[in-house]
Amino acid sequence: MQFHVITLFPEAVRQMLGCGVTGRALKAGLASLRTWNPRDYAEDERGTVDDRPFGGGPGMVMMAEPVSLAIQQARTASPQGSRVVYLSPQGRPLNQHRLVAAARNDGLVLLCGRYEGIDERVLADQVDEEWSIGDYVLSGGELAAAVVMDALIRLLPGALGKNESAEQDSFMQGLLDCPHYTRPERWRGQPVPQVLRSGDHGAIENWRKRQALGRTWRRRPDLLARRQLSEDEQRLLQDYIDDYNSRPRGADEE
Ligand code: ADE
Repeated sequence: MQFHVITLFPEAVRQMLGCGVTGRALKAGLASLRTWNPRDYAEDERGTVDDRPFGGGPGMVMMAEPVSLAIQQARTASPQGSRVVYLSPQGRPLNQHRLVAAARNDGLVLLCGRYEGIDERVLADQVDEEWSIGDYVLSGGELAAAVVMDALIRLLPGALGKNESAEQDSFMQGLLDCPHYTRPERWRGQPVPQVLRSGDHGAIENWRKRQALGRTWRRRPDLLARRQLSEDEQRLLQDYIDDYNSRPRGADEE
């Protein structure tokens, strides 16, 4: 997948993706990253890309022309069908569902704002979608773009190692992930759940599903409300709830 990022801080974006799963995917050519700096399209010698807001108020606004030219270049260089996405707190909340849909395209253009934002006329003219990564305000879109690219890259076939799987990630099945444990079997008095040491793959799978359902029920009931449960899942969740409710007060939560 080709990523084209429009940013005043190209080095920061490269660094954020340079390590781990994303770094390996870029090296292996599963994903590529090209950056486009609006400063290179500034109209004056000093590379001015921002100006004061009409109507007054604090802060500066990114100027239409340099951003527009950078978007045009990125669009031209990106594969057919690539969407131009502006990252901003005003955007539609991003979720796994939207990412899975975006991962079907060969390219994506991500537009990062700084200062108070970008002149609205460019957004109206040249941006296809606006995404937010959460109800909080970052100093710029670069971190959000890195979040989007990281989450997309792990969905690309071959990006994760043999023993890792995006299918198992939280949200892929509309549920939170189950708990995970590794050696030692007992750590500071806390044992690993017996079933995970039993070698009984059916029982392990059931336990994991039950934990995923139970955690989602406790922590994110909004996700459960949106998801149809199979009969098996309903039974596993009911087991979990019965167990949970019969726990002595103050007992370990999980
Ligand atoms: N830029 C600044 N804050 C943001 C947010 N919450 N999501 C996406 N882009 C942003």
